[in-house]
Amino acid sequence: MSKLKPLIAGNWKMNGLMSDLSQALAVARGLMERPVDADVLICPPATLVAAMAADLRGMPVMVGGQDCHAETKGAHTGDIAAEMLKDAGASHVILGHSERRADHGESDDMVRQKTLAAFRAGLGAIVCVGESLAEREAGEALARVLSQLRASIPASADAARLVIAYEPIWAIGSGRTPGPEDIIAMHAAIRAHLGDMLPDGKRIRILYGGSVNPRNAADILRLPEVNGALVGGASLKSADFGLILDALRQTGTASC
Ligand code: PGA
Repeated sequence: MSKLKPLIAGNWKMNGLMSDLSQALAVARGLMERPVDADVLICPPATLVAAMAADLRGMPVMVGGQDCHAETKGAHTGDIAAEMLKDAGASHVILGHSERRADHGESDDMVRQKTLAAFRAGLGAIVCVGESLAEREAGEALARVLSQLRASIPASADAARLVIAYEPIWAIGSGRTPGPEDIIAMHAAIRAHLGDMLPDGKRIRILYGGSVNPRNAADILRLPEVNGALVGGASLKSADFGLILDALRQTGTASC
């Protein structure tokens, strides 16, 4: 199978004001000076999507949302439709992040409907899956992740529009990461499962997420089966995010 183009995605979560748009601009300028053979995406809070997309127009960094509603419009106070993100200049949306699943009770079925909404609007969907520490310690990590995949991924999904982010919940924001064998094994199992579910499922990019930082990025990004990273805390400052992009350059780009 030919190599999949890596995707490095930053998830700013509930961080960032207008004054922080300069961080995204600095990342984009760095990439214009030293291009990387990867897609690069920053997902700021919804308040910054339009301004960031306008700032980065024509530059090598895409902009994404962090969630969307399943419907196109209507009486859903506080929610944002996929079409609105697209209209604001987004190319992608993160869906089913464990923080949304925990804070907002998002079920796999809701994530599947949101994924369909993203496709309907012409957005790429980055669907997050991952086990809790209790599930990992009970030997249930794989079963949990595969059941999330089965229920969160629509049958119409394809490699052009869907990205999976494997994010063990216990690794997010904790400074802890799984060992390389565990990451490889989980990504391989996800790829095999996607291959069974969808015609081009084996070509879906699988990102690792959870405490990726400038120190561990090269070791993670060079692992087989890892097609990029979803980066939280270390995406907030252009210097750190730039070092993660340097790490990708060091690996000679991730292989499939
Ligand atoms: P982290 O977050 O890099 O801060 O651990 C990753 C994520 O939740 O997407």
